[in-house]
Amino acid sequence: MKIDILNIKIRQIRASEPMPFALLILADPSKAVIDKYLKLSKVYVAAINELDIGVFVLQKLEKGIFEIKNIAISPDFQGQGIVTFLIEYAIRIARNLKAKTIQIGTANSSLGQLALYQKLGFEISEIKKDFFIDNYKEAIFENGMQAKDMIMLQKPI
Ligand code: ACO
Repeated sequence: MKIDILNIKIRQIRASEPMPFALLILADPSKAVIDKYLKLSKVYVAAINELDIGVFVLQKLEKGIFEIKNIAISPDFQGQGIVTFLIEYAIRIARNLKAKTIQIGTANSSLGQLALYQKLGFEISEIKKDFFIDNYKEAIFENGMQAKDMIMLQKPI
């Protein structure tokens, strides 16, 4: 469904509200892993006409680094660049909190996501070897290969 990005409204989810797991699980198949980082993060939901269509999770790390731990767009709304708007929004939040670097991680097998983040100016900063083997109960396969390593990417902001 085609939308006008100007109509997207972003709100922070309070800890007392239900977490948008239907969206979060699109980016991360493990609820246990999600639960772990939600404890240390802020969750933002993007809505259009009261319908939640996207999510991002932002966590403050050390030394002026913020990480986008999870970002997802509802399938009906993918493919129209909404993710770029959400990443720019996350960068604005981090910058207002004096961050100098934004970071994101994705699997070695997530080829589209790796392309997307590099197109947006992120550069590979670290490879967490066997992250998905060590932290996920079920093996993950995509693009005909197993998700094994977490590729971390950073962008100065
Ligand atoms: N090769 C090259 N470029 C690609 C590819 C690819 N395979 N896939 C996407 N891109 C580029 C697009 O070309 C586009 O760039 P452009 O504007 O220069 O044309 C850009 O990425 C944005 O692509 P969209 O498809 O419009 O992005 P969308 O708004 O649909 O969001 C997202 C992308 C978040 C990956 C969405 O598809 C989604 O929610 N997927 C499921 C969940 C997920 O994988 N989340 C990320 C996991 S990593 C993490 O959460 C930290």
